[in-house]
Amino acid sequence: MEAEKTVRESFARIFGGDGDIRCYFAPGRVNLIGEHTDYNGGHVFPCALTIGTYAAVRKRDDRKLRLYSENFPDDGVCESSLDGLVYRTEDGWANYPKGVINEAAKRGYEADVGFDIAFYGNIPNGSGLSSSASIEVLTGEVLRDMYGFDYDQITNALIGQAAENAFIGVNCGIMDQFAVAMGRKDKAIFLDTATLAYEYAPIVLDGVKIVIMNTNKKRGLGDSKYNERRAECEEALHRLQSIVNIATLGALREEEFERCKHVIGDEVLLRRARHAVTENARTIRAVEALAKGDINEFGQLMNASHRSLRDDYEVTGRELDTLTEAAWEQDGVIGARMTGAGFGGCCVSLVREECVEAMTRAVSEIYETKIGYPPSFYVVSVGDGPRRI
Ligand code: GLA
Repeated sequence: MEAEKTVRESFARIFGGDGDIRCYFAPGRVNLIGEHTDYNGGHVFPCALTIGTYAAVRKRDDRKLRLYSENFPDDGVCESSLDGLVYRTEDGWANYPKGVINEAAKRGYEADVGFDIAFYGNIPNGSGLSSSASIEVLTGEVLRDMYGFDYDQITNALIGQAAENAFIGVNCGIMDQFAVAMGRKDKAIFLDTATLAYEYAPIVLDGVKIVIMNTNKKRGLGDSKYNERRAECEEALHRLQSIVNIATLGALREEEFERCKHVIGDEVLLRRARHAVTENARTIRAVEALAKGDINEFGQLMNASHRSLRDDYEVTGRELDTLTEAAWEQDGVIGARMTGAGFGGCCVSLVREECVEAMTRAVSEIYETKIGYPPSFYVVSVGDGPRRI
């Protein structure tokens, strides 16, 4: 409610409060397991959060776009137009909504008139909880509702991903936009990224909380490493394809991988591929464990996921490792791992309710002593996808 009020007030202050102003929300997401598998045709298991991004919007009579974010007040209003939308460095965050408008238009969803829009998000930015997918899917939802475009939420997610790939230049997979667009209260999404087949799995955990731990180390350089990991996986796949008929690393079972891995012929590429293959297997097993009510097995798989991301995929770093490893030592922690792209950002953990306070206190102390500044903690709830509010 607070955030919705903030965005309405920003809109009125910047653009004036008259006329037909509509408000929208899209969530952030956290991935429970299945990391760096989405661009390898593997499985992921994310859920949408109740924190996210809000927008207040009003149509204009001309083709202009004016965009403002209460999270970046110093950037002022970004002025653009429906005609000739291009990426401009100085437009900063506004490139995300611009990219979505551009990608939607490429698919035939062309707005006839422009709009004024104010955004406000309560996802800590740079935290790896998908503030960018959230603003992308939110923009897609604004277009869908205000202009009567008839695309579904999967298309909305694909438009967001295309904006990120083609307009922003980050070669991400579909997980984040899908999790945001298809989010459902108290459900995680088991998604096969090779086919986009998905199932909702209940994530009402009796007496257990989802605790997100933020390293408070901003990502940045990470994006180039992200594209590097993608390229390494593609190269490993290419080498494996010389002896096995697979379209993606996600199509390879662990036993098959063990039989074929010698053709990779490079130690680093082998470890990257091994992560993609084993993480996919862990994700499938984790969802099965949850269905059986075996939360401890689920937690063990989360821990194994982190070790694989640390040792084989090398996307964790000191901050994420310190937080996760400190969490592993605490009473009541069922599982903990880094979440999202890595290199900074957040860890996700499952913690017994009665232990949350002691756990966050102890982990905070260990982290601050070692890293020099404190982490942040959020006890989160799983929420619904984008909507008009
Ligand atoms: C980022 C990307 C996703 C996914 C994760 C790693 O969040 O946007 O597509 O690859 O990293 O699992």
